[in-house]
Amino acid sequence: MKLSHLLPAALSGAGLIHAAVLPAPDSPYKVQWTSTELVDPARPDPFNATHARRIMISRFTPVHPRDCVRTCRVPYMNAFMSSVEDAIIDAFVGADIGWPHGVLGRMELELCCAVRAPHNTNTKVHDPHHHRRFPTILYGTGRNTTRLLYSAAAQHLASVGYEVVVMDHPYETDAVQFPDGSVIYGGRVPRDPDAVEALAAALDVRSRDTTLVLDYLGVGRDEKGVVGFVGDSFGGPAAADVMRKDARVGAGVNMDGMMFGPAVDEGVEGPFLMFGSPGHNSSSDETWERFFNATGENYPRSWMKELSLEGAIHGLLIDFALVADVAGLRGDDKQVVGNLIGTITGARTMEILRAYLSDFFEFTLDGKGKGLLAGPSKKYPEVLFL
Ligand SMILES: *[C@@H]1O[C@H](CO)[C@@H](O)[C@H](O)[C@H]1NC(C)=O
Ligand SMILES: *[C@@H]1O[C@H](CO)[C@@H](O)[C@H](O)[C@H]1NC(C)=O
Ligand SMILES: *[C@@H]1O[C@H](CO)[C@@H](O)[C@H](O)[C@H]1NC(C)=O
Ligand SMILES: *[C@@H]1O[C@H](CO)[C@@H](O)[C@H](O)[C@H]1NC(C)=O
Repeated sequence: MKLSHLLPAALSGAGLIHAAVLPAPDSPYKVQWTSTELVDPARPDPFNATHARRIMISRFTPVHPRDCVRTCRVPYMNAFMSSVEDAIIDAFVGADIGWPHGVLGRMELELCCAVRAPHNTNTKVHDPHHHRRFPTILYGTGRNTTRLLYSAAAQHLASVGYEVVVMDHPYETDAVQFPDGSVIYGGRVPRDPDAVEALAAALDVRSRDTTLVLDYLGVGRDEKGVVGFVGDSFGGPAAADVMRKDARVGAGVNMDGMMFGPAVDEGVEGPFLMFGSPGHNSSSDETWERFFNATGENYPRSWMKELSLEGAIHGLLIDFALVADVAGLRGDDKQVVGNLIGTITGARTMEILRAYLSDFFEFTLDGKGKGLLAGPSKKYPEVLFL
């Protein structure tokens, strides 16, 4: 449509030369980010049996401000991944939106880059288990996205005191870049919501990937219900799926995802939160209604709640709203709003999600009160209780 408004900005590169910082959360902990490749040597990759299953994860670890020696700005994603995402966003929103290429590649996160070594402990710096003093929250992404599009949201959740681990699932994630430079592209999981068997199989792959992550983090197989899982879109049914298959995951959140897999008609044991965008709820989505019914029947003591976030659109937990705000894409002449983001700002989205998710996990994993989950709050009128 109004291409003339959009092309000059995108082409001149006027705003694209300088990096733009996605603001760090203003909350108790600073956050450290590490990316790690994990290999499951005994499991042939279900999408490509010529090699063992290998995945990439991002860990966002809280750091007490007094232990953070240095903060720095870190690229949000590199130029290669940014160009992969640009092509997908173009196809998703349509060429007339004029999504400005390169924006993702110039974003930066403000993180803690050097941590004071702990005193008087035998902790090895590279021991993956040594941060277990913070509860672990696993983070499932939407289909056809990358874990890198969730880094700001993960940083916000980590900043209140959770070790947040965002997972890529190769051959489903749009592109996974490994430390050796190799890339695995996605596209093996169908988009058609009626392909329920293939989608259930994809969830099973995610659940096994999640088990690999928990083993790597040193969460013992006998530690039941100690880990939380929040999933955006297809990550939502992934939360329910893994709760049925790995008892270490004891609390789940589905952010606006249609439900798939055995949980739809068998439910889950354990607390589960459904957080929808306007109009997406158990009245409009039959898979949600079936999931509620099945859980009520099979696990009548399971705590479940359904919330709705006004002003949001699908993809509640992805960083697009924050990126769009920082890049100044919310102007009247742009159609990013409504196609890629809702009317609620990125900063407000992060604030609300951090508040509700941390209260949910304190309630479910730490045995505290219901907090914001008890009922509507004057502080967050955008959150509706259904
Ligand atoms: C399977 O993985 C191998 C590398 O191990 C790669 O060369 C090949 O292209 C992959 N095949 C498919 C169908 O993705
Ligand atoms: C990924 O998203 C783009 C944009 O919607 C679409 O063209 C492409 O087919 C998608 N790929 C898969 C595997 O879903
Ligand atoms: C729930 O979904 C129905 C059908 O789309 C819609 O009419 C209703 O407004 C929704 N409720 C909320 C609170 O979004
Ligand atoms: C869910 O349960 C209600 C109450 O028993 C029932 O009326 C409804 O048909 C069920 N929905 C589905 C999709 O099974």
